[in-house]
Amino acid sequence: MAAESLYRRLGEREGIGAVVDEFYERVLSDEELRPFFEDVDMREQRGHQTRFLVTAAGGPELYDGEDMEAAHDHLDVGHVDFSRIEVHLADALREFDASDEDVDAVVAEIESFRGPIVENRPPNP
Ligand code: HEM
Repeated sequence: MAAESLYRRLGEREGIGAVVDEFYERVLSDEELRPFFEDVDMREQRGHQTRFLVTAAGGPELYDGEDMEAAHDHLDVGHVDFSRIEVHLADALREFDASDEDVDAVVAEIESFRGPIVENRPPNP
């Protein structure tokens, strides 16, 4: 991903934090996804996700959480769930006027975690 500049264009940590808030509003309004987050401390989750995306966008190495496979192993995430998450993230970025190019760059980065998060499951349903 076009490192530093993408992080800057997204508004650095503050801008990315705002995108993450918008993202989780969309995720929690999605009846298919809300059940995954029922027992999750969303304040903590927003923090994790913000630090993760800061790092993924080429900003400072803030992310210190679990690796993606370990964090999602117990959740039984399917391909369709993963794709819905991606759409909400892309929509949240567009809400903050990210360019198509930047949205594509973030989605491509996120897509690289599909393997570890969805693991070896056949496509759902
Ligand atoms: C699109 C790529 C994704 C990224 C970048 C991502 C990122 C993260 C991060 C950074 C954490 C925190 C890890 C930690 O606690 O150290 C996390 C946890 C979690 N993620 Fe994701 N995630 C993704 C996809 C998904 C999907 C598709 C779902 C479900 C549909 C999901 C549901 C969860 C839940 C429920 C937790 C909390 C687990 C717990 O606290 O037990 N994630 N994710």
